[in-house]
Amino acid sequence: MIEKIETLLGEIRSLTANDEKEIEALRIKYLSKKGLINDLMTDFRTVPAEAKREIGMKLNELKTAAQEKINALREELAAHHESGDELDLTRTPYPVRLGTRHPLSIVKQEIIDIFARLGFTLADGPEIEDDWHVFSSMNFAPDHPARDMQDTFFVEQHPDIVLRTHTSSVQSRVMESTQPPIRVICPGRVYRNEAISARAHCFFHQVEGLYVDRHVSFTDLKQVLLLFAQEMFGKDTKIRLRPSYFPFTEPSAEMDISCNICGGKGCSFCKGTGWVEILGCGMVDPAVLDANGIDSTQYQGYAFGMGVERITNLKYQVKDLRMFSENDTRFLEEFMAAN
Ligand code: PHE
Repeated sequence: MIEKIETLLGEIRSLTANDEKEIEALRIKYLSKKGLINDLMTDFRTVPAEAKREIGMKLNELKTAAQEKINALREELAAHHESGDELDLTRTPYPVRLGTRHPLSIVKQEIIDIFARLGFTLADGPEIEDDWHVFSSMNFAPDHPARDMQDTFFVEQHPDIVLRTHTSSVQSRVMESTQPPIRVICPGRVYRNEAISARAHCFFHQVEGLYVDRHVSFTDLKQVLLLFAQEMFGKDTKIRLRPSYFPFTEPSAEMDISCNICGGKGCSFCKGTGWVEILGCGMVDPAVLDANGIDSTQYQGYAFGMGVERITNLKYQVKDLRMFSENDTRFLEEFMAAN
């Protein structure tokens, strides 16, 4: 019996607890009616008379030790609370305000998803580019005025290095490293030296597409763009292609969609015409294929490029381009539902 008491004493001295619940559990284990110490009290009755005194004293010592330990644990816990240094990792955090994806990211992703369903994969490239990938490989002659068309930012003292003005540079990088069939879309940020206003910014976002294979015709391009427009703006959307010019495509066109704000009747957004321009496109100029290592006698391609801001404006009627980069959370929160 003495041994049992000694073991319990040792156990009690080394008790620890993290909270009130654990302390209460210890109290029940040792000090309650059905606790270990009370069990010993019951056994005590059977102890021979000559040993009663010694064991009785030991038992009392044990009971006091247990009570004192429980009290001490309670005090410790209280002191800990008062000092405020408790760190409860299980506590629910302060209300977390969920963020929203940026409207441009939402729309960019939608564009990517539509083309992904048609088998286009993603391609990426640097924003600081060399002249070759942005201009020369895209059939811009050295002194061609078309270089001015895009209001280029040059890197100081490095006339050969520019901030890319379109993601056609990524098309060039894909062509120089891959043989057809090629089916890529290139989303990314582009830069042009424009005065910042509600309608223009010095950077914006594009998604360009490139398809190169045998027997590719303008009809393929038209069909893909029609499908894109209807997926993006609704089944009743019509498209219209107007002849245009780009150094890297021949023939080239600009594509309008029937104004999705007035349904084509004419409104202030489409300036009464019922049509709004959304992208440039065309058949890849054979000179571009050759410059990028693809045999233009064997392969043809089409390409298209659109501004993500423009598409977003049409979908959400954002009047001022600057709102996209100011990151005013009141503006961004308006897109909560679209997330
Ligand atoms: N690169 C053109 C631009 O930035 C867009 C475009 C891409 C036009 C592909 C035709 C074909 O304006």
